Amino acid sequence: MASLRVSPPTFLFLLAPLLVLATVNCDDEEGHVLSGINSYRQSHSLPALTKQDKADCLADEIADELENQPCPSGGITPAPASQFAQYPKPLDKCNININTTAEGVILPVCVHDRVATLVLTNYTQSRHAGYLNNSKYTGAGIGTEKDWTVVVLTTNTVGGSFTSGVTITSVFGVSTIHYYLMFVLLGLFLAIN
Ligand SMILES: *[C@@H]1O[C@H](CO)[C@@H](O)[C@H](O)[C@H]1NC(C)=O
Ligand SMILES: *[C@@H]1O[C@H](CO)[C@@H](O)[C@H](O)[C@H]1NC(C)=O
Ligand SMILES: *[C@@H]1O[C@H](CO)[C@@H](O)[C@H](O)[C@H]1NC(C)=O
Repeated sequence: MASLRVSPPTFLFLLAPLLVLATVNCDDEEGHVLSGINSYRQSHSLPALTKQDKADCLADEIADELENQPCPSGGITPAPASQFAQYPKPLDKCNININTTAEGVILPVCVHDRVATLVLTNYTQSRHAGYLNNSKYTGAGIGTEKDWTVVVLTTNTVGGSFTSGVTITSVFGVSTIHYYLMFVLLGLFLAIN
């Protein structure tokens, strides 16, 4: 039987393509929701929302927190939330400063088995539509878990940019960073020669 044994690294190696595939499938579903929302926006002559990584992280974490909550009865779309303060852990995990979320909004939808068409109409034919149908929003993140789909909308203003707390640029100023990078590159160039 010894010949059938697979070492843990080999096992991981064999598993890796499956894990990648699972991630891709999940991204596919979330991509499907985003393109559905963008078709809806296009029909209202609004520019498409672009995927925003921090909002994507946040939507995933919020979906994680909602996953064990049952769907509201009667197929009612849950209320939108602009109170990000109720999600301290997701904000922390995604390294987002709450002061850059005030203009964003969380749009949760609960549909058993996340039937794609129902998820989409729950976005485009409910009170969520009033948010999706607004040119102020420019970016989106999407998370899914069990029956829940969560869309987080961001703006291109500071108050809805979903950026992290302290950034190096805010301490030193952008130009200092540029000079610093220039010197690093120059140093590398001289070192190579
Ligand atoms: C957010 O802004 C408030 C008031 O300006 C400030 O007291 C607080 O420290 C800020 N929070 C973060 C995480 O930067
Ligand atoms: C939203 O989803 C529920 C299922 O959870 C469904 O019964 C309802 O018809 C959907 N609403 C819309 C507006 O699509
Ligand atoms: C949303 O769409 C409706 C038409 O369905 C339109 O009358 C309304 O002006 C739109 N709202 C915004 C903010 O674009």
